[in-house]
Amino acid sequence: MALLRFSVFVLIHIALVSTLCFAGDPTVSYNFKVSYVTASPLGVPQQVIAINGEFPGPVINATTNNNVIINVRNELDENLLMTWPGIQLRRNSWQDGVLGTNCPIPAKWNWTYQFQVKDQIGSYFYSPSLNLQRASGGFGAFIVNNRAVIAIPFAQPDGDIVIMIGDWYTQNHTALRTALDSGKDLGMPDGVLINGKGPYRYNTTLVPDGIKHETINVDPDTDADRCLCAITYIYGKWFELFEILMALAQRSAGKTYRLRVHNVGTSTSLNFRIQNHNLLLVETEGHYTVQQNYTSFEIHVGQSYSFLVTMDQNATSDYYIVASARFVNESIWQRVTGVAILHYSNSKGPATGPLPEAPSDIYNQWAAMTQPRSIRLNTSASGARPNPQGSFHYGSINVTDTYVLRSLPPSTIDGKLRATLNGISFVNIDTPIRLADQHKVKGAYKLDFPNKPLDRPLRMDRSVLNSTYKGFIEVILQNNDTKMQSFHMDGYSFFVVAMDFGIWSESNRNNYNKWDAISRCTVEVYPGGWTAILISLDNAGVWNMRMENLDRWHLGQETYMRVVNPEENGETEMAPPDNVLYCGALQDLQKPQHHSAAMSILRRISTTFLTFSLALSVGIFIL
Ligand SMILES: *[C@@H]1O[C@H](CO)[C@@H](O)[C@H](O)[C@H]1NC(C)=O
Ligand SMILES: *[C@@H]1O[C@H](CO)[C@@H](O)[C@H](O)[C@H]1NC(C)=O
Ligand SMILES: *[C@@H]1O[C@H](CO)[C@@H](O)[C@H](O)[C@H]1NC(C)=O
Ligand SMILES: *[C@@H]1O[C@H](CO)[C@@H](O)[C@H](O)[C@H]1NC(C)=O
Ligand SMILES: *[C@@H]1O[C@H](CO)[C@@H](O)[C@H](O)[C@H]1NC(C)=O
Ligand SMILES: *[C@@H]1O[C@H](CO)[C@@H](O)[C@H](O)[C@H]1NC(C)=O
Ligand SMILES: *[C@@H]1O[C@H](CO)[C@@H](O)[C@H](O)[C@H]1NC(C)=O
Ligand SMILES: *[C@@H]1O[C@H](CO)[C@@H](O)[C@H](O)[C@H]1NC(C)=O
Ligand SMILES: *[C@@H]1O[C@H](CO)[C@@H](O)[C@H](O)[C@H]1NC(C)=O
Ligand SMILES: *[C@@H]1O[C@H](CO)[C@@H](O)[C@H](O)[C@H]1NC(C)=O
Ligand SMILES: *[C@@H]1O[C@H](CO)[C@@H](O)[C@H](O)[C@H]1NC(C)=O
Repeated sequence: MALLRFSVFVLIHIALVSTLCFAGDPTVSYNFKVSYVTASPLGVPQQVIAINGEFPGPVINATTNNNVIINVRNELDENLLMTWPGIQLRRNSWQDGVLGTNCPIPAKWNWTYQFQVKDQIGSYFYSPSLNLQRASGGFGAFIVNNRAVIAIPFAQPDGDIVIMIGDWYTQNHTALRTALDSGKDLGMPDGVLINGKGPYRYNTTLVPDGIKHETINVDPDTDADRCLCAITYIYGKWFELFEILMALAQRSAGKTYRLRVHNVGTSTSLNFRIQNHNLLLVETEGHYTVQQNYTSFEIHVGQSYSFLVTMDQNATSDYYIVASARFVNESIWQRVTGVAILHYSNSKGPATGPLPEAPSDIYNQWAAMTQPRSIRLNTSASGARPNPQGSFHYGSINVTDTYVLRSLPPSTIDGKLRATLNGISFVNIDTPIRLADQHKVKGAYKLDFPNKPLDRPLRMDRSVLNSTYKGFIEVILQNNDTKMQSFHMDGYSFFVVAMDFGIWSESNRNNYNKWDAISRCTVEVYPGGWTAILISLDNAGVWNMRMENLDRWHLGQETYMRVVNPEENGETEMAPPDNVLYCGALQDLQKPQHHSAAMSILRRISTTFLTFSLALSVGIFIL
């Protein structure tokens, strides 16, 4: 009898859980309360968007194939959507958190995202996607660790450190939005934040008093560690001795940390550097790179990089960590510089003197492109699966379609300042595209996005690319704007096969990197230049493509790629989740959400009852 009751309970419990998860793989869960808090990162009090009171938000820490559940409660005074750029959401654009795939979460509502980080590793971040909210915060790191059975292509680092850098305005996102909507440029940012904090006071004239800065604490290699190793050896096996010796040989010069650096800013490309330390590039947006040292590194808006940094200095003082504006006149933009401190536990004093210098090649544009061109895939390293990253021979696959996407500087359309891609300034979607498809809503969007710039007047529209499932496409991003741009695509990782200045032509194909091009999800496009990418369209759904530069994105520089299997068999794409929200033309299908005190009491009672019944069943079972 007791056994029966227990089994029934377990069955119910399994049934409940299995509606939430995908078979077998472990689940990580988070509760995100998104709200305004007052902070003064640059000395001026302002409302920033925090998650569970933290700014930046907590780290989402998952492992390949984990199911991720994030219950987001919107405590802002406006709509919210959280998005996970770079998380590929296989067959599941329902969780992407952009207006073309999700109805917004209204103020004071909550909504639970559920997805699997399938066949993926790497460093990413999450952020809000609507209304320029990222300019006020709401972002945090999203890490997907390797499974234990797949070795990372370097010695296990002594620590994992997240660094979020980004330009920052003392005006909040609503004020910035008002400026953009009235045709103004956002102008120069007021500073650069590092992990939500303002600059260290490296110069008393340039940095006002009373600003909190970030300190990254590290340990050098100490004798105590070596001692510990020796003890381990006495009690250990020969095998372990060998491992220890290997590890010591690899890092005899000091402890090595993995720094995951993300540019979560509004629109400024940043140069990242650490005084007296090399940055050994190892990974970007989910792929291991050929390992190379740099003294400074350019990180564009929306990009993520992992560097190994060895604490091999003598700690006569602390060291500066700098993120400064790049591709602008740096003598005018001096205040747009983030400064944090790298503090060794044996440091003998504060960092002093001038900051390490930024590269001075800014007006030598050819030199400026040398760095991004040097980023290569390590084809022999394993990524998410135990096979080499280079085993997908993208260079020998025939291209099925070519798109040329040209961006122009903002100009006036219907009396409003707008930004365009191929002459179209995207208008926000009211009814998410796949939901509109399923419910046969007419006119929610058009499938007529042109595959090259057309000679016709600029327009505002909901034009989407009609792409072929399983196609292998070439996309040329042609930047005819005057500012550096970061192009991002959701749902995919793409191969960056070439970039150059001037106008792209077919003859440029002869110089594509067909062997070890890096695969990533956000790439820079130089002003007056182009970047060519290749994408294998194997992930069905509707996927946003946009400029990560928030001003341009807000002004309409985005579209979607609709990738649908014409022979949909229920397996190429997931069905909408049970909690799908309805809006726009489907508004009437949406049930209201209650958040009264009575409800939460009821919920607490039912949780208590569940816990009680579980305890009871277990108790009876044991008896
Ligand atoms: C943003 O700034 C504007 C203008 O300074 C102010 O009116 C508004 O209340 C602020 N919004 C929030 C959410 O703090
Ligand atoms: C993430 O989780 C792994 C264990 O799964 C742990 O080793 C690592 O320190 C965690 N990282 C962060 C940043 O919390
Ligand atoms: C809202 O959050 C509660 C728990 O806080 C959860 O039980 C409920 O499922 C969530 N609602 C939605 C629509 O995700
Ligand atoms: C590439 O990865 C392999 C395999 O993990 C590693 O042994 C090698 O050092 C890496 N090569 C470079 C140049 O980074
Ligand atoms: C601080 O910055 C100002 C302006 O760039 C410069 O003139 C001055 O020399 C700097 N002071 C120090 C101590 O470096
Ligand atoms: C990178 O620089 C460090 C010193 O900071 C050095 O130990 C290491 O060998 C260099 N690695 C490569 C691949 O150049
Ligand atoms: C520590 O390193 C710095 C910079 O490399 C050097 O100027 C200084 O003399 C060194 N100090 C000691 C005590 O070795
Ligand atoms: C940068 O700005 C300064 C100050 O206005 C000016 O003197 C300098 O010529 C500018 N540099 C370039 C290369 O435009
Ligand atoms: C690619 O196209 C070429 C010429 O059009 C053809 O000969 C070749 O078989 C194609 N390769 C594949 C893998 O389809
Ligand atoms: C979209 O493309 C498919 C072929 O890939 C074609 O059959 C269909 O008619 C296109 N739809 C529109 C609206 O152009
Ligand atoms: C934009 O295109 C025009 C015409 O091709 C060209 O003259 C101009 O230099 C371009 N500007 C940029 C910033 O690419």
